[in-house]
Amino acid sequence: MRLVKLAAVVAGVALVGLAAAAFLVWSGAKTSTVGELEFANRLAIPPLAEPRIDGDGRKVFDLELRAGETEILPGTTTETWGANGARLAPTLRASRRDEVMPRVANGLGEETTTIHWHGMHLPAAADGGPHQTIAPGETWSPTWTIDQPAATLWYHPHPHPETEDQVYRGLVGMFILDDPEAEALALPDDYGVDDIPLILQDKKFEDDGSLDFSKGPISPTGLLGDEILVNGTHDPHLEVTTERVRLRLLNASGARVYNIGFADDREFDLIATDGGLLEAPRAMDRIQLSAGERAEIVAEFEPGERVVLRSFEPDLGTNFWDGRFAGGDDSFDLLQIRAAGELAPAPEIPKRLATQEPLAESKAAQVRRFELSGQGSIDGRSLELTRIDEVVEVGTTEVWEVSNASGTPHNFHPHDVRFRVLEYAGGPPPAHLEGLKDTVYIPPNETVRVVTEFSDYTDPELPYMFHCHVLQHEDRGMMGQYTVVER
Ligand code: C2O
Ligand code: CU
Ligand code: CU
Repeated sequence: MRLVKLAAVVAGVALVGLAAAAFLVWSGAKTSTVGELEFANRLAIPPLAEPRIDGDGRKVFDLELRAGETEILPGTTTETWGANGARLAPTLRASRRDEVMPRVANGLGEETTTIHWHGMHLPAAADGGPHQTIAPGETWSPTWTIDQPAATLWYHPHPHPETEDQVYRGLVGMFILDDPEAEALALPDDYGVDDIPLILQDKKFEDDGSLDFSKGPISPTGLLGDEILVNGTHDPHLEVTTERVRLRLLNASGARVYNIGFADDREFDLIATDGGLLEAPRAMDRIQLSAGERAEIVAEFEPGERVVLRSFEPDLGTNFWDGRFAGGDDSFDLLQIRAAGELAPAPEIPKRLATQEPLAESKAAQVRRFELSGQGSIDGRSLELTRIDEVVEVGTTEVWEVSNASGTPHNFHPHDVRFRVLEYAGGPPPAHLEGLKDTVYIPPNETVRVVTEFSDYTDPELPYMFHCHVLQHEDRGMMGQYTVVER
């Protein structure tokens, strides 16, 4: 009897101990830099690449991928990857109907990579997914004609299963598309002056400045950094000189979700999402972006003021336990905006921005269902590069219904196409998901229905990918392959 009691007491103490340890881990998993930055560094603006025009009239962008060293934290050096420089990659820019040819030279030493044009409508052979590997020393020169509306796209490595690490090293850039209708609008469009790219990446640093690749003890979504770099700049500020400024926000992190707004809760206009301009601007005070998503916002400033762009605690739709370990309780000061004493006037944002291509559910030839399960599979299967999971007929419209069957945050991104959200977690799409998208957050235990059209580019063999853009999940196989074939 005494022994039983003793055992019960010991077990009780052990349980209390475990709970206490769990509580400690949970408490320690919250991160915030709000109020802690000095905004000491001028925000770097990735240079605009200058293409040359080749004999066939193509815009050729030379991109040399290389590793290098950058002083990110004062007095230390960090080994980073970039294109045409040590960190990040230049901003590429092209217009609808331009024929482009990036020439991607792999100067990374030992590492094989790929470069994927995220959000781009293009032939599978040019897509830069895991099948278009670029061996060390090789150059890959895909070519295609831009045929989609003005939008903020981006490019990044996509070798399987190394994407999380390679993106984390900083080899990412924006790919801005223009079109004549968008150019005719009175929107801020002077790159680096009133049209500012903001590439958000979270990092962890060792004391000597090197990147820390370790994941937390409980990490449902992968590495979460406690420092946010904007365009590779730590502790940044931006000087603005106009009354209205367009910010092109890109979440280029592996797992972190940002819920972006201003510290004083001022409203801004959302003018574009992943796939391009909205039909009309939408006033809001927060915009949430999961990994891979973009948004363009226009904000107004008063002469001489300073205001902080912040990431507030995101709404992940998780329980309190999982949410904490997925960054759901984290907040960050991203960037201080300093307005000049005198600001150049800027016109009002137009009431109509774009006419969107009709993407009607009624035209859908079929519905495909996908279930994101665990942390590395879709419909219970992990990626096989030799298995084609879905075959789509060219010229068809389809509804894709994606469910998150786990307690973990996921999102969903198909290559090649833009989609419209039909239904989000049992209701109509919220305001920030009304426009064209190519990546969408899927809360735990919810379903998102989207409609899209597979308008051209057939290839019976080479697939496009669809996957969770939480890069650890993608690397673990939460990815599938689809081909587009002739009818
Ligand atoms: Cu940014 Cu396969 O994607
Ligand atoms: Cu993509
Ligand atoms: Cu996921």
